[in-house]
Amino acid sequence: MAITRNSSEALENVQYGVDLKPGDEVLTTNQDYPRMLTTFRQRERREGIVLKAISFPVPPPSMDDLYRRFEQAVTPRTKLILVCHITNRTGQIFPVRRICEMAHSRGIPVIVDGAHAFSHFPYKLSDLDCDYYGVSLHKWTYAPIGTGFLYVRKSRIASTWPLMAADKRQDDDIRKFEEIGTHPAANHNAITEALIFNENLGIDRKAARLRYLRDRWANRLAKHPRCRILHSQDPAQSCGIGFLSLEGVESAKMYSALWSKYNIITTVMDHEEYKGLRITPNVYTTVREIDTFADAVERELAG
Ligand SMILES: Cc1ncc(COP(=O)(O)O)c(C=O)c1O
Repeated sequence: MAITRNSSEALENVQYGVDLKPGDEVLTTNQDYPRMLTTFRQRERREGIVLKAISFPVPPPSMDDLYRRFEQAVTPRTKLILVCHITNRTGQIFPVRRICEMAHSRGIPVIVDGAHAFSHFPYKLSDLDCDYYGVSLHKWTYAPIGTGFLYVRKSRIASTWPLMAADKRQDDDIRKFEEIGTHPAANHNAITEALIFNENLGIDRKAARLRYLRDRWANRLAKHPRCRILHSQDPAQSCGIGFLSLEGVESAKMYSALWSKYNIITTVMDHEEYKGLRITPNVYTTVREIDTFADAVERELAG
């Protein structure tokens, strides 16, 4: 595991670091993080690789449906897969283990974008059986901004080039992904404090609380005729991230009203296939604040 400054650095190390030839295909979804899609699109322009970004409905009918979309999109030219453990849009959790098993049976390595997964809900990295895993520790772990990590399967380290050059002697050394020049040690050192804080919360308790808060606003607003909930209600497919789609109101307009009148921050997440707001309470959000949010949405829709 290499310590990086964020998921972008972790994932781009791998996205640029795996050798690909013109015509080689990379498979991902059109709801993966824009920067990660941009990275492969730059390789398309520069090296002639082909990015295939599949779509999926929100919420999807099942994990099985998500798995099959990946399986059906693999071709003999597929040389790499990028998949989110949980998306930053509707908070959809993917069947990562099954996708990895399918990919490995065809000799394809899998990069998992775990930016929003670590310290959010319980899992073990070893259970996923992926080849690469990138995380931002300034998200759900609450470490300082500028902290993250990259896991690389031991047998893949030597064949993966680092983003910044490293000496040949480091070919098989995970530390080659940390060759970023002089940078502050304070951020790294504070990771331990954040991990201790999370250990004291307990990941099961944390995930249960996040789901409770999300269900509290979502179950209420789901009854409103102009609200649609686009995150999955299945606990295996979602956790603290929720998604509210509104009929007849632009997401940006609702965002501005919630912020300017009620001091509530949401995230506009319009996509070519659906529109709406990402709603992301955290462990410090109170039940009263959740109810204030639901009141505010109802009031704005009535107004
Ligand atoms: C799914 C996903 N991947 C990657 C990133 C990039 O994270 P960072 O900006 O911390 O590098 C984000 C950031 O929001 C994300 O949500």
